[in-house]
Amino acid sequence: MIVCSCNLITEAEIRDALSRPDGPDCVRDVYKSCGCAPVCGGCAGAIAKLLEETRADALYSRAGSRQKVAA
Ligand code: FES
Repeated sequence: MIVCSCNLITEAEIRDALSRPDGPDCVRDVYKSCGCAPVCGGCAGAIAKLLEETRADALYSRAGSRQKVAA
């Protein structure tokens, strides 16, 4: 699914960038990671949502790891 119609960035490309250890940690860096820059900014909210989802997943994943260690 295309998230950014100006740059033709797909959700898969954004998720791939976010999954890298040195991946972007803000919306502006997501554009940079995908080799482009914002044009109209209309996709910024959708990119921010993917960023938040990724952060939440990482947080839950780390919390789960700690619980396994503690058990
Ligand atoms: S839709 Fe992404 S910059 Fe325009």
